[in-house]
This record gives sequence, structure tokens and C-alpha cells, in this order.
Amino acid sequence: MGERKQDQLLGIRTAGIREWKDRRVQYNRYEATPYQALDKLFQSYKLNNTNKVVDFGCGRGRVTFYIHNRFKLPVTGIEVNDQTYEEALENKARYRQKAKHISAPIQLKYGLAEHYKVKEVDNCFYFFNPFSIQIFKKVVNNILRSVEKEKRTVDLILYYPMPEYKKFLQTSTPFTIINKVRVPGAKDQNEKFIIYRLREEDIVSTDDS
Ligand SMILES: C[S@@+](CC[C@H](N)C(=O)[O-])C[C@H]1O[C@@H](n2cnc3c(N)ncnc32)[C@H](O)[C@@H]1O
Repeated sequence: MGERKQDQLLGIRTAGIREWKDRRVQYNRYEATPYQALDKLFQSYKLNNTNKVVDFGCGRGRVTFYIHNRFKLPVTGIEVNDQTYEEALENKARYRQKAKHISAPIQLKYGLAEHYKVKEVDNCFYFFNPFSIQIFKKVVNNILRSVEKEKRTVDLILYYPMPEYKKFLQTSTPFTIINKVRVPGAKDQNEKFIIYRLREEDIVSTDDS
């Protein structure tokens, strides 16, 4: 099924690309994760009713609405491009007409991912190459601080993972890879998901007070 057809089923418009007009080097452009890739990911990676998902750099909200619709879970999307954020809100209004029966909340927040205060219930974090490694480090450190305070198992899902993201997670964090999911027919070796997990029992507290 085509991308626009899948959008229609959810009542949303997420196709296309938006570049930053003022060439912001730290923030990457908008482009949605392909539906085909999401379908493949969730054949093997399952979410359940203990999960709360945050999409850092949610764009027009494709991943946010897809997960909400498929797993009926609370989802949060954060987006800093004001035009893209407005489009995400319009999508939410249309999607909600189609998904009235799903009671789980959908929160769309306007702002910087690195300023998002990680909630003690957030436990699954999605990244499709949204920003520079400097910002990624800040966001991951915010997640680590949150799990130190409120111990829980958390997952990071990276789509199209950049080498510097992988290097940082491997060398400077306690996350370990639990799965890699390749997208069928991918032309590019980065077209895959890597899922990292930090298990509750592996959380080491650095606070000795
Ligand atoms: C590649 S798109 C991914 C969209 C969506 N997550 C998906 O997979 O369909 C990355 C998005 O991150 C947004 N973005 C970039 N830097 C950001 C930041 N610091 N905080 C929040 N959003 C950001 C961009 O505007 C863009 O919409």
C-alpha cells in the first residue's frame, strides 16, 4: 500500500520533506519514517500497555499516530519547527475523528527535544535522525538522569542510525543493542532500526548523596 493511502487510513498528511529555510546545522529536516519500515519494525518489536512512547522530533506525527493507532498507548511527540508542528496539530484533529475509540492520550508539544522534561513513566524513545550528535547526547543524558531517579527499563529506537549516535551509545552509555531490523528492499545500509535497551537491574546510580 502506498504512503498516501496509509496516511488516508489514519486521516493524516505526513508525506514530503521540509528543509530548514535558515540552514540550521543542529536540526535536521523533516521527512517521515516510511510506513513499510514501521510495519517491518513492529513485526518483531512489540509494545505493550506498560509502554509510553516519546518521538523526539515528531514532525507531522506519522510515528506518533501510527503507534497510538496500532498499540493504543499514550504517545508524546515533540517538534520545534512551528509550521511542521501546526501540521501535526491539524493531523491530530483529523486522526482523532477516526480514532475516537482509543482512549490513550496523544500529546504534541512544541519545543526543543533537549528541553523536554523526561517523565517518570516515559520508557520508549524514538529517533529518526532528528538532530546533531551534540543534541542527541543532551537528550540521552536527560533520559539517563530520569531513569536514575525513577528506575525502570527503557528502550531507544533509532531509525536510520548515524554512526556518531551509535558510537556515543556504545562508548559512553550503559545501553546495549537488543535488536536490529532491516527494511526489505533497502537501498542504503542505514535504512534499518537499531533498538537499544537499558534494563532496570543494570542502572548504576552516580548519586552518592
Ligand atoms: C527526520 S524528521 C522525523 C519525523 C518523525 N519522527 C518520523 O519519523 O516520521 C526529524 C524532525 O525533527 C525535528 N527537529 C529537529 N531538531 C529538533 C529539536 N532540537 N527538537 C525538536 N524537534 C527537532 C525536525 O523539524 C523534523 O521534523
